[in-house]
Amino acid sequence: MCSIAFINGQFMTIDKAYVNIEDRGYQFGDGVYEVVYVYEGVPFALEDHLERFFNSLNSVKIQTDYTKQDIEQIIYDGLKEANLKYAEIYFQITRGTSRRTHTFPEKVSSNFVLNIQPGVNPPTELWEKGASVSLAKDIRWSRCDIKSLNLLPNVLAKQEARDNGYFESVLYRDGYIIEGSSTNIFIVENNQIYTYPANSHILGGITRKHIISLAESINIKVNQIPFTVEQLYHANEVFLTGTYIEVLPVTKVNSEIINNGLVGPITKKLNEEYKKWINNECGLSAIKIS
Ligand code: PDD
Repeated sequence: MCSIAFINGQFMTIDKAYVNIEDRGYQFGDGVYEVVYVYEGVPFALEDHLERFFNSLNSVKIQTDYTKQDIEQIIYDGLKEANLKYAEIYFQITRGTSRRTHTFPEKVSSNFVLNIQPGVNPPTELWEKGASVSLAKDIRWSRCDIKSLNLLPNVLAKQEARDNGYFESVLYRDGYIIEGSSTNIFIVENNQIYTYPANSHILGGITRKHIISLAESINIKVNQIPFTVEQLYHANEVFLTGTYIEVLPVTKVNSEIINNGLVGPITKKLNEEYKKWINNECGLSAIKIS
């Protein structure tokens, strides 16, 4: 069992995996990425991640010779090599390596890197007691639908939250809640769900998409419309979604306690349904949090 990397055609151990200092990912954040979780040796929702990856590539006009099938094959070969059943896969493509200049370099191939490492279990307590979030102004650009390497505003927001004892930073713009620094956010009001619409202000999360269809399949109405900061403070329930945290209840927003500090029934139900979904796709012991 080990962590491994794949760089432009070759597997190697992570400590041997280097790219050139003139990779445009370093100098301009000129690239896009994906994070996929693996349960029981099966990459969860891989098709969705690959589709989003190629949409991101198209949006920033990066070309690659790798096809979806190539990446899938690399992932399965890598999982075999790493011998990991529960793992986190990261992959990115940058515009390539060339002398620094803002314009796209000519005749330069893009760089593909991927690594596979053991999955990280967030503390179980977070699901029992709920997480806390703080609010921060959204200072990002207006193409947050692209999963680009430019994550500095997200990094700064998350760190500020952690420095102040909160789990996640939730971003707002013009009085409306947008998303978390690395998660999507939902509220429950009068037994209906609200979440920001999937436009260019948010990353259209794969987990978000699955949760919306799961909720609808059990007859919970989902409103993909913006909700305000005030609505968040007074919501019946709040939860976050993301590849790493799956469905995570939130019981505190800044100093405001949500649902008397208890995990609400709709959040609980969706969490169960989501685990079932993972289970169906990836196998019986796919459930991460018991
Ligand atoms: N982040 N919003 C943002 C800004 C994100 O960075 C992410 C994921 C999400 C949730 O998307 P998904 O459900 O597809 O994981 C929403 C990844 C995991 C990361 O950057 O590590």
